[in-house]
Amino acid sequence: MTPMTDRLHILVSAEELSAITSRLAAEIDRDYADHPRMILLGILKGSILFMSDLMKKMKTVCEIDFMKVSSYGRGVRSSTGEVQVILDLFREDIRQYDILIVEDIVDSGHTLTFLTRYLLDKGAKSVRSCVLLDKPSRREVPYIPDYVGTVIPDEFVLGYGLDYDEKYRNLPYVAAVDQSKN
Ligand code: IMP
Ligand code: MG
Repeated sequence: MTPMTDRLHILVSAEELSAITSRLAAEIDRDYADHPRMILLGILKGSILFMSDLMKKMKTVCEIDFMKVSSYGRGVRSSTGEVQVILDLFREDIRQYDILIVEDIVDSGHTLTFLTRYLLDKGAKSVRSCVLLDKPSRREVPYIPDYVGTVIPDEFVLGYGLDYDEKYRNLPYVAAVDQSKN
């Protein structure tokens, strides 16, 4: 079995990630200038590096919060489409807030479709999403994120918050796993 680190090729370098978060922060600042109550809602655990870099570059006044969700019966590469809330958002004042979900990747689209409906049902003023990576070829439901770092092909990726079996989240770049070497 080839070690995982020998099966990786860098897909988005640290320099590219920095350029992406700078661009997205500027887009968000432009769009949220007249939204005085905003929550950046990070989805644990994959969004943490992306969110911390993004928020440092934003000038918009915002609060932060987190939710954790998981898909029932998810294997490493598959989702059943049922999303379970593991850590909920409890805010009595949610009606006053525009929420920007910060997520590592949109794949099948089930997670963000579910979360958008869930937060709107709780009464959020608006719900949009900012994703680092978009794999549009994997969509099972027609979800379009509002802000996208970069579109990637249908490859399994890890690093910069994304995991493979809960590991490799601390890599400072996004890498793809070479499936041909086993
Ligand atoms: P969706 O509901 O299928 O859009 O799932 C999104 C979630 O699946 C993300 O938050 C990730 O946790 C996980 N995911 C999807 N693709 C990958 C990948 O290539 N690497 C690591 N995690 C992934
Ligand atoms: Mg995730």
